[in-house]
Amino acid sequence: MKTRNDYAKDYDKKVWETGDLDHRETLNPVVFKLLWDVKNKKILDLGCGQWYFSRLLTKQWANVTGIDISEDLIKIGEQRNQEQSLKIKYFVSDAANLKDLKDNEFDIVVSNMAFMDIENIKGTIEECSRVLKNNGFIIFSLINPIFWISERTKDDNGYFLKLIKYNTNSTITNENRGYNFKTTHYHRPIWYYINTLVENDFYITNYEEVSTKYFRWELIQDKEFFDFIQEFPSFLIIKAHKK
Ligand SMILES: C[S@@+](CC[C@H](N)C(=O)[O-])C[C@H]1O[C@@H](n2cnc3c(N)ncnc32)[C@H](O)[C@@H]1O
Repeated sequence: MKTRNDYAKDYDKKVWETGDLDHRETLNPVVFKLLWDVKNKKILDLGCGQWYFSRLLTKQWANVTGIDISEDLIKIGEQRNQEQSLKIKYFVSDAANLKDLKDNEFDIVVSNMAFMDIENIKGTIEECSRVLKNNGFIIFSLINPIFWISERTKDDNGYFLKLIKYNTNSTITNENRGYNFKTTHYHRPIWYYINTLVENDFYITNYEEVSTKYFRWELIQDKEFFDFIQEFPSFLIIKAHKK
């Protein structure tokens, strides 16, 4: 049975230096468009994983700090940074308690596919507001909360989604088949994220919902399924400025 550390190694293999197919084809083009010019910007990569995205930003002359709660992933990232002679600051820390970071320190906080994995999202958004400069902004991407808790099913009329308890916060436990541990993910309705941003002095400037362009075998095989998927955006990306 594989361990948590093996899982980190396998995640590293999956995303490598570019991100996985969904990162590359669907998410990152939007995130980069919203980031615009990162040169000389002080950026916090929150829930950075093995930091492939931090490295992409650093190669565009951004000044990046990476934070993640997983020591295993941070270690892998550190090794990769050394191999590439990249100097990226990092902390192993809970996103909801950024004790190593000062107030008003960053121009940008970017968090790719991590908010649905972070338990205390109110504390995290509060901390993002604290460490951002005024007029600084946050960009985060996540699995679309509507899509995630919907059961995909099919009857004589074709595919449809069965939506269960959208308005209630809940946890989703993933068994990680073949590994010796479980991961927990957190469902919150979209309004929960938006209201928490507003409560913490953010105003939203961009809201994007995107469908996977990941041409998996099942999607190529089934045109009806592919068309159906395009109508239910798999991811959402929000950009919000601090007042
Ligand atoms: C799906 S991964 C995304 C990683 C990276 N941003 C990427 O795009 O490859 C989610 C990350 O969130 C991190 N994470 C989960 N809870 C966290 C917390 N409370 N504080 C900081 N990071 C956390 C996990 O360790 C994991 O690396």
